[in-house]
Amino acid sequence: MSAPGRVGKIAPSILSADFAELAAEVARVRAQADLLHVDVMDGHFVPNLTIGPPVVEALRRRTDLFLDTHLMVDNPGDLLEAFAKAGSDRCIVHVELGDPRPLFDRMRALGLGVGLVCNPDTPVEAVIDHLAEIDLLLVMSVHPGWGGQAFLPEVLEKVRAARAAVDAAGLPVEIEIDGGISPVTARAAAAAGADILVAGSAIFSAADPAAAARRIREAAWPSS
Ligand code: DX5
Ligand code: ZN
Repeated sequence: MSAPGRVGKIAPSILSADFAELAAEVARVRAQADLLHVDVMDGHFVPNLTIGPPVVEALRRRTDLFLDTHLMVDNPGDLLEAFAKAGSDRCIVHVELGDPRPLFDRMRALGLGVGLVCNPDTPVEAVIDHLAEIDLLLVMSVHPGWGGQAFLPEVLEKVRAARAAVDAAGLPVEIEIDGGISPVTARAAAAAGADILVAGSAIFSAADPAAAARRIREAAWPSS
């Protein structure tokens, strides 16, 4: 369970924003965004194809928000420097690609925060082994590739296990969950121990994205 008084964060995922109006979309959610989640897909690691460093560079010029970059790509090591130069604050790499430690070293050397992510079918042990090396653990609550998919409640057990491991070791690791987050699913995700909720379609399909983000925050952390 999350500790009393824990302040949770909302990370709008721009994947569901109008890419032709990206700066305006970010401005519309700014008041309720603690950071921004940028989904990078290469058409190989996942079938979908999205954006790369030039879009991060353009975003960086238009917002002071912390930019988290979720790399759903086969070759994250080849892209870290470009994202660091473009203005990413942290990169998140998938544990399914194999030993992530060389990537962590590259990220640290580039001044990037270090995030590690596991897919719904990946056992939590694969990431728990790395908790002392990272700043952020992301637990996918959908199979990555698209926004707007249904939340997979079975991953909550992994969030609980990660929360227990982080708290037991007293590590400064934030736990994040990504996929299918809405005012309906947010409470269970927060109660399981997530510090950061990523939400794309629930925020950017709404007429008022900031109000939608606030509804997720209030559902997750009712006293906040
Ligand atoms: C899915 C992405 C998510 C996506 C979430 O592959 O990693 O960040 O934007 O979208 P929603 O919140 O609509 O499930
Ligand atoms: Zn993502």
